[in-house]
Amino acid sequence: MKKREGFGSSFGVLVAMAGSAVGLGNLWRFPYLVGTNGGAAFIIIYLAFVLLLALPIMYSEFVIGRRSQANVFGAYKVLAPGTKWCNIGFIYVLCSITIISFYSVVGGWTIDYLIKALSFQFDVADNAVLGGMFDTTVTSSYKPLIFMLIFIIATALIVLAGIKRGIEKYTKIMMPVLFVMVVVIAVRSATLPGAGAGLDFLFKPDFSKVTANTFLEALGQAFFSLSVGAGTIMTYASYVDRNESIVGLSAQTAIADTLFAIIAGLAIMPAVFSFGISPSQGPGLVFITLPYIFAQLPLGSFIAIIFFFILFIAAITSSISMLEVIVAYVSEELGLSRKGAIALSVSVILVLGSLCSLSQGVLSDITLFGNNIFDCFDKFSANILLPLGGLFAVIFVGWRMKKADVTDEITSAGIYKYPSFMQNFIYFSIKYLAPLVVAVIMLQGLL
Ligand code: PHE
Repeated sequence: MKKREGFGSSFGVLVAMAGSAVGLGNLWRFPYLVGTNGGAAFIIIYLAFVLLLALPIMYSEFVIGRRSQANVFGAYKVLAPGTKWCNIGFIYVLCSITIISFYSVVGGWTIDYLIKALSFQFDVADNAVLGGMFDTTVTSSYKPLIFMLIFIIATALIVLAGIKRGIEKYTKIMMPVLFVMVVVIAVRSATLPGAGAGLDFLFKPDFSKVTANTFLEALGQAFFSLSVGAGTIMTYASYVDRNESIVGLSAQTAIADTLFAIIAGLAIMPAVFSFGISPSQGPGLVFITLPYIFAQLPLGSFIAIIFFFILFIAAITSSISMLEVIVAYVSEELGLSRKGAIALSVSVILVLGSLCSLSQGVLSDITLFGNNIFDCFDKFSANILLPLGGLFAVIFVGWRMKKADVTDEITSAGIYKYPSFMQNFIYFSIKYLAPLVVAVIMLQGLL
C-alpha cells in the first residue's frame, strides 16, 4: 500500500484542527446566541457542554481516525472488519458535503464583502442602504455564484497541495494572523465610549433569560463550533503521528475555539452596544450592523477590511477540513487519484452550493417545512447529521472497541499518563454520558 501522507508537526496538527473549529460559527453565531440567551449565562452552559459532551466525541473521533489511519469509511473497515459499521462513514461524507455546500455560499459573501471593504463601499452610515446592499449581494443570481466558485476553488487548491504542503502550510500562516487581527478589533471595540454595556452583557450572567431552549442552542453550537460529528476530526486524526497526545490536542483545540468565540464576542458586542443597536440580529449582525458601525468609526474603513479578511480566513480553514473528509473518502475508497477526487467532490459541491445560493433569490419559492434550500441544508446538517455522526462515534468507541485498545490510543501506548480518575471519567463520558445526552437532545429536536 502507498504510504499515507501525514502532518509534519504538533503545531501543524493543532492549527489545522483549530482552523477547522474556528469559523463562521464563532464569528456571528456565537455572539448572536450569547446575545439572545442571557449573555454570560449562555457562555457558562456552553462551556459545560464543550467539556462534558463535545470533548468525549472529539476524543472518540480522534481514537477512530488515528488508530485506523484511514478515511471515515475505511476507518471502520480497519477497526471492525467484515461488519456493517463502515456504513457510518456515509453519514460523515454526507454531513461534510451538506455543510460545505451552504458554507461556501457564505464564504462567497465574505469575498464579496472583502472587495466592498477594499473599495470603501461602507462609507454610507445608513442601515437601510447597508441592508439593501446585503439583500442585493445574496439574492442576485449569478454574482454570488461567481464568488462561491472562487471560494471553492481556493479551498480546492489548498487541499490539492496535500496535508503537509497544503493544509498544514496555509493554516500555520493563517491561524496566527487570524488571532492577532481579531484581538486588534476586540481592543478597538472594547475601548469605544459606552462599550461597558457590551462587556456587562458578555460577562454578567442573567439566568432569568435561560430556558429549555437555551440548553438546546448551547448544545448545537458546541457541536457546530468544535466541528464534532462531521468526520473532520476523524480525517485529520488519521494523518496524526502515534506519539501525539489525543487528550492534549483535543483540549487545546477546544480552548482555542472557545477563546476565539469569546474574543469575537468582545470584538462585536461592545461596538454593537456602543452604537445602541440590538445584539440579536442574526446573520445581519455581521453583514449589515457591523459595516454600519465601521462607517462611523475613526479608521473604520481599515477595520472593515481586517474584519472581512478575518471572516474569509476563518471560513476557508474550516471548509478545507470538510473537503478533506470527502476527498480522502473518494480517493481511498473509490480509488481515484487525489486530483480526480477533488474534481469530483468540487463538482458535486458546486451543484449543491448553487442550489443553496439561488434559494436566497430566484429559487426562494422552493421550501420544505417552511425552510428554503439553504436553511434545509443548515438545519439538516446541524440538527440531524452532526449529532448522529457524533453519537455513532462515541457508541463505536465505547461499546464496540476493546477498552484496552481505547486506553492504548488515549495514552498513545502509555506515553501520556493521566491520573486514573481522569482516565475513568474520559471513558465514562464516552461510553455513557455523551451517547445518552446526545440521544436525548436529538429526540427532543425531532419530536
Ligand atoms: N466549526 C466550524 C465553524 O464554527 C464549522 C464546521 C462544522 C466545520 C463541521 C467543519 C465541520 O464555523
